[in-house]
Amino acid sequence: MTYKYPVYRPYFNGREKDLVMDCIESTWISSRGRYISEFETRFANWLGVRRATTVSNGTVALHVALHALGIGPGDEVLVPALTYVATANAVRYTGATVVLVDSEPNYWQMDIRDAESKITARTKAIIPVHLYGHATDMTALMALARRKSLFVIEDCAEAIGTRIEGRNVGTFGDLACFSFFANKTITTGEGGMVVSNDDRLADRVAQLKSQAVSTSREYWHDEIGFNYRMTNMCAAIGCAQMDMVDELIARKQRIADWYKEFLEGVPVHVHETQPDTFHSFWMVSILTQDAKDRDPLRDMLKEFGVETRPLFHPIHHLDMYKEAHARFPVAEDLSSRGVNLPSYPALMRGDVATICAPIRAYFERMGNVRETVSALRDAFEVKASA
Ligand SMILES: Cc1ncc(COP(=O)(O)O)c(C=O)c1O
Repeated sequence: MTYKYPVYRPYFNGREKDLVMDCIESTWISSRGRYISEFETRFANWLGVRRATTVSNGTVALHVALHALGIGPGDEVLVPALTYVATANAVRYTGATVVLVDSEPNYWQMDIRDAESKITARTKAIIPVHLYGHATDMTALMALARRKSLFVIEDCAEAIGTRIEGRNVGTFGDLACFSFFANKTITTGEGGMVVSNDDRLADRVAQLKSQAVSTSREYWHDEIGFNYRMTNMCAAIGCAQMDMVDELIARKQRIADWYKEFLEGVPVHVHETQPDTFHSFWMVSILTQDAKDRDPLRDMLKEFGVETRPLFHPIHHLDMYKEAHARFPVAEDLSSRGVNLPSYPALMRGDVATICAPIRAYFERMGNVRETVSALRDAFEVKASA
């Protein structure tokens, strides 16, 4: 089904096409070419970090980062229960054990006190995920990690532009990983980046992503590496996206403000922002007060051509990560009530007003989908099927 208002659609400024054409005309279409280093340098400078290494997606960014830190079988890695599955999968790829941590209820990020309670003699690293564009409390998390001698890999897939007291997330941990999938704030189609302030770790990631090829001997490989390289064509799109990264983030701020304005007085809770944090609003998300309203609300919005997404299923609900008796009450509660609303950068104020009108009407009609749809049908020219 095509939606009038999809959850996401990428935003291009036109230079993407020219730069990709340049790759094709110059025949530099694989993982060598000038756009790779240009994208890496611009990204590192923009973020405020010493080094950035392109990779082919955000999942392998996490895997190669874990591998570079020497994490493997017998080790434990703390991961929030409420995240996209890739965070946990990357840990599993290394043979290490995923140890899940509950969320805090205010901003939906990893609960640092619960993280501390999960640390054992085997724990080697923590992966805070800056979920939906908010930030994990990195001051508390870094203090904990330093006290317990643990590595930190920030999962910034959803958080380019998110800042804590003016400092970008991705600059706090030993390593940080980004995703440039088509629904991310900047995109290269598929793509990712690993960043670090540690030259030794950055060199190791760069070598591992390219079959661990020797820097001193031709066609010699120092260890078992990976082909996790980004193509020059993807990097070319990344360069064009970097031209307007600040504009994209500003657009998302405006969209979030419009949602807050049009949902004022509606009994839903819009994802809040901690006072010291700049929330980049990769997704604008809401919680219904009652979990039973979540799915009817989504069904009703679908009738009006508005695509939504549920918040992620907690990782321990997935068969591969099921743990007997495991309970993560906050993550479970958020997941049962949460909805991601259309959040793509081209949305205008009138679009957000249009999306919010049926949400308000739904609650004014006590959650009656049929009545809401028929009441608003003419205004929206939709066919009621509820
Ligand atoms: C939190 C999180 N981590 C990791 C990833 C993986 O990124 P990719 O889809 O580029 O592999 C994603 C994205 O989709 C994500 O949302």
